[in-house]
Amino acid sequence: MKLSKLVAGGALLLVTQASFATVEQSALRDTLDALYVQDKVTSITDNDLTIREDLGESWLNDSKEAELKVVKDIINQLGKLQLGTYVVDDSPALLTYISEEITSGRQDYYILRDAHPKAHQCVNAYFTVEYNNFFPSGFLGNGNVQHDAIIRFSSSNPTPGSDAINGVRGAAIKVLMGDQTHDFVMQTEPHFPTDNVEGFSNLIKVGRTRNCLSIVPDPDNQSPFGPLFDFTYQLRKSTQCLAESDFNLLDLPETVASIMRFQEGFEDSPIKSAFDFDYFSVTPYAYEDIVFKYEVSPATCTEPNSEDKSFTSAEAADSDGLENNIQRVLAEGSACFDLNVVARPTDISDKDAIEMLVTTWDEKSSQVLERVKVASIVIPQLSTSTEISSLACDEMRNNNGRNADGFKPLGSIGRSRIPIYDRLSSFRIEANQHLRNINQ
Ligand code: HEM
Repeated sequence: MKLSKLVAGGALLLVTQASFATVEQSALRDTLDALYVQDKVTSITDNDLTIREDLGESWLNDSKEAELKVVKDIINQLGKLQLGTYVVDDSPALLTYISEEITSGRQDYYILRDAHPKAHQCVNAYFTVEYNNFFPSGFLGNGNVQHDAIIRFSSSNPTPGSDAINGVRGAAIKVLMGDQTHDFVMQTEPHFPTDNVEGFSNLIKVGRTRNCLSIVPDPDNQSPFGPLFDFTYQLRKSTQCLAESDFNLLDLPETVASIMRFQEGFEDSPIKSAFDFDYFSVTPYAYEDIVFKYEVSPATCTEPNSEDKSFTSAEAADSDGLENNIQRVLAEGSACFDLNVVARPTDISDKDAIEMLVTTWDEKSSQVLERVKVASIVIPQLSTSTEISSLACDEMRNNNGRNADGFKPLGSIGRSRIPIYDRLSSFRIEANQHLRNINQ
């Protein structure tokens, strides 16, 4: 009798604590959402999206309003996903799946990028413009102009994970040009899982439902009411998750195809050094009236580095293998890349060339597409005096629309990413400051 009273009392205490924590959690999430996500959604205006019809751009479903609506929706969904992804429901405060990083003192902040959250390293670089016929009137300056740059190497997995698992890697290059900067945001996978921003929004809705379901407490939790309590709780939570995601079931077949393409991109990505990958812009750009995509490919440095760039077997098996590899190679010398551009093929329609991303220009065109080198990139030997901290690396804001004069990202996904990155990077930086303040 005494024992059963004790068990019941203990269970009640656990339930009270758990629901207390849940209330605290969801109140904090609501506060952060109201303060830092909803204002970003409402800040989107007509001026945030522009198209150049003369270069073949067209609005999603021929409607600017439709595209603006999807952009707002994505900011809302991704903001909520960021607030949810790193939240463990039964903790007294926001905790992240990478809490070890925080407790080990490597991080004192919480909300990471929604995409490419794991930075392997930010490194300094030199970006030198090459003379070329592709941009006869120059490109980020005339031939032989050298700019300082910063490169952020990343992995795209939405939850930071082990580098020993296949995954699409990213490289964002910020070229520093006095009072202007030009960002190149690239990934190792040349395809994108969806052609346009609406398809991507559906992928997010599915991801959010999955995330919402995954934070339903474990059925083996200490509920005093047993499995039936868990079942009803889970059913209620699952229905709520599906309703909140606002997913239209008619979009299911296309969304399933996108999910499969997304997974194929991950699975096909080899596990190798960041210095051995090609990186692709994926989306097209215009410089004045010239339409192109760009790629960054490994190159031989003028001053050779005796250290082998390729992964050692230990690096390939290590959860931080990419960072270890960057550190090892750059401790001994430099690593180099070429920036190449490819012109828009003339034998495919505007819609195919500009607005559709599931297949690449090389796959769509019957022409053999030539690459022209327009710049060289040198990452010099690492020096402790100029090393970029992981906090500075995570607080960097890259945006494919932060460009030198005359450039314009093209296509539904290219142009929509500009306000999305802008608002969501502000959100994570402002929300992290809020969390630091309340935890002080
Ligand atoms: C509609 C489509 C897309 C959406 C909604 C999206 C969303 C995002 C968001 C929210 C971030 C984090 C921004 C920040 O907080 O600073 C990000 C980063 C990133 N995205 Fe995208 N993205 C899209 C398409 C693409 C494409 C086509 C590429 C291919 C190049 C790409 C590559 C990257 C990379 C490499 C980063 C990390 C940038 C960095 O290191 O700072 N994304 N994306």
